[in-house]
Amino acid sequence: TPDVRPLVAGNWKMNGTRDALGEIKAMAEGVVGPLSDHVEALICPPSTLLYVATALCTDSPLMIGAQDCHQKVSGAHTGDISAEMIADCFGTHVILGHSERRTDHAETDHVVRDKAAAAYQADLTAIICIGETAGERDSYQTLDVLKRQLDGSIPDGAHAENTVIAYEPVWAIGSGLTPTNEDIAVAHAFMRSELVRRFGDEGKTMRILYGGSVKPGNAEVLMGIANVDGALIGGASLKAADFLAIYSVY
Ligand code: G3P
Repeated sequence: TPDVRPLVAGNWKMNGTRDALGEIKAMAEGVVGPLSDHVEALICPPSTLLYVATALCTDSPLMIGAQDCHQKVSGAHTGDISAEMIADCFGTHVILGHSERRTDHAETDHVVRDKAAAAYQADLTAIICIGETAGERDSYQTLDVLKRQLDGSIPDGAHAENTVIAYEPVWAIGSGLTPTNEDIAVAHAFMRSELVRRFGDEGKTMRILYGGSVKPGNAEVLMGIANVDGALIGGASLKAADFLAIYSVY
């Protein structure tokens, strides 16, 4: 998308103990330089590593984010973390509504929208994930699903700085499968038009990431598709060499 700074983001999911911090250190050292002026880099480790990870990035443009937050500011919610806690650890972003959370924790569009609103309150950028299942794709419902999830999961008050959309077809996650380039182009053009319809000019520059089996070998082609403004990477974000190889396709 013209006038948009791409974002290459890694989602570590439930992977990584302290011995993985060396990878974050290597990534932090790898994203300095001219490339970092026009492409953003972000890693979202498990929340146990958040505070140490941000400390490793103080001299680097590499940003650190979390993988979820609660919709409430604080209180009796055992096991959850708030947006404020993420910001307090110097996290800048939070992934919300990932399909694994929608499945494992029955998160609805409504819950995701409330979480995004909580993220805005703490000045975090929300990375709102949407995407169809294999069954929905096979029955030609992809665009209907994307419309419903966009309408339901993005709060009013979203703009190009506080919101990133991540399109992750559920069947492409961790499978080694990706949609065809044409299918990705169609989906991203559709999401762009929906964002512009609802948010006007802000929708023109709101970033839309592609996620699902992004690897060093396919990243250049995927990132070259119209309206693909970066990547949300799972498995290939765990190792600095892979993450930096994808980052460097820009
Ligand atoms: O959030 C990123 C993720 O769901 C994609 O995972 O392992 O297919 O890159 P992976």
